[in-house]
Amino acid sequence: MPEVQELLIEGMQDLLHAEHQLLKALPKMAKAAHEAELKQAFEKHLEQTQVHVERLEQAFESLGAKPKAKVCKAMQGLVEEGQEQIAEGKEKQPSTADLALAAAAQKVEHYEISGYGTLRTLAEKLGQKAVAKLLNETLAEEEKTDQLLTQICAPILERASEEKDVGDRHARAASASHHAGSRSKAH
Ligand SMILES: [Fe+2]
Ligand SMILES: [Fe+2]
Repeated sequence: MPEVQELLIEGMQDLLHAEHQLLKALPKMAKAAHEAELKQAFEKHLEQTQVHVERLEQAFESLGAKPKAKVCKAMQGLVEEGQEQIAEGKEKQPSTADLALAAAAQKVEHYEISGYGTLRTLAEKLGQKAVAKLLNETLAEEEKTDQLLTQICAPILERASEEKDVGDRHARAASASHHAGSRSKAH
């Protein structure tokens, strides 16, 4: 087997493990999301992720290889960071918590985009058209999800910034009255 094909198969094993981890992580992220649109985006991407696993299995079959998963340490780390955001989000404003959660999710998408992009190019070079097509279909969905998350976050960010302004006003008002009260003592 040419070494480039081995590289392709190893990369697919890595992504298979990554996708399996996401099947477990996405329901938790959907549950933690406050904004309905964000929740729906995670639920929809969970369904797509099931298809991503199926496409990888088909690609393995096309290459005459077993659909074996190889531990993807990068995704373990990214999923762990997502869990941290879920836990820390409980102490945050709902909109800020959603922004942090979406940011963690976009890091995941970018990892997948990088992985699928490279493997599609390898498959094309090897003349594995069916495999390249499967990888490209998944790549398109990962890219769309990344863009969708950016879109969903724009109004949430708008609201989160306003929340901060309100907080600042309160802080300024409190500090002004504090100074007013202490003036007689200070002077
Ligand atoms: Fe995926
Ligand atoms: Fe994804």
